[in-house]
Amino acid sequence: MNQSNVLLPSGCILRKATSADQWSIRLLVFSAKLDPTQLNWQQFLVIECDRNLVSCGQVRNFSGAQELGSLVVAPAWRGRGLGSLLTQHLINTATQPLYLECLGQRLSQFYSRFGFVPISFADLPQFPKTEVLPTLKDKFRFSQLARILLKVPVVFMEYHRNS
Ligand SMILES: CC(C)(COP(=O)(O)OP(=O)(O)OC[C@H]1O[C@@H](n2cnc3c(N)ncnc32)[C@H](O)[C@@H]1OP(=O)(O)O)[C@@H](O)C(=O)NCCC(=O)NCCS
Repeated sequence: MNQSNVLLPSGCILRKATSADQWSIRLLVFSAKLDPTQLNWQQFLVIECDRNLVSCGQVRNFSGAQELGSLVVAPAWRGRGLGSLLTQHLINTATQPLYLECLGQRLSQFYSRFGFVPISFADLPQFPKTEVLPTLKDKFRFSQLARILLKVPVVFMEYHRNS
């Protein structure tokens, strides 16, 4: 499904983040209780409406893979297509096999609209760690533990370009 042609509400623009956005990005991510690590503004796309940052999301780099993460839309702006638009743009920027982790069935259904398919932890690719890049599987290992030990409903998903 390609939703990149969906129009933004008037007064809104989608753009790459700048250093001036870094605290607004942190605020959005912290307030949504998402993973607070690797919030480098250089990796983010944002949506600005009437000069306020109302949405953000990023593609994190790992060895041999990327992760779509930190997707947030400010509560007052949800349900108007901003999350979908940003997700499609983030997918379009990916240059490596793309993965994500999310909580619960509603979010996994949201991502399945774009071509993400659930994948088991065992089936995640294990690329060798490089000097600069950690591996995605090592990062997801914590969530897998939480899933097993604490029954946290984490879903791992892999992007399939043609689905
Ligand atoms: C998930 C989220 C980014 C969607 O943004 P949005 O702009 O509201 O999304 P859109 O308007 O493009 O699409 C609406 C879809 O979002 C999903 N969605 C909306 N609110 C949701 C919620 N509270 N929990 C899970 N999914 C939600 C649903 O699939 C919804 O589709 P539906 O109305 O047919 O059920 C937004 O709800 C959000 O910021 N949630 C909190 C942070 C979060 O959970 N991020 C995902 C991390 S993996």
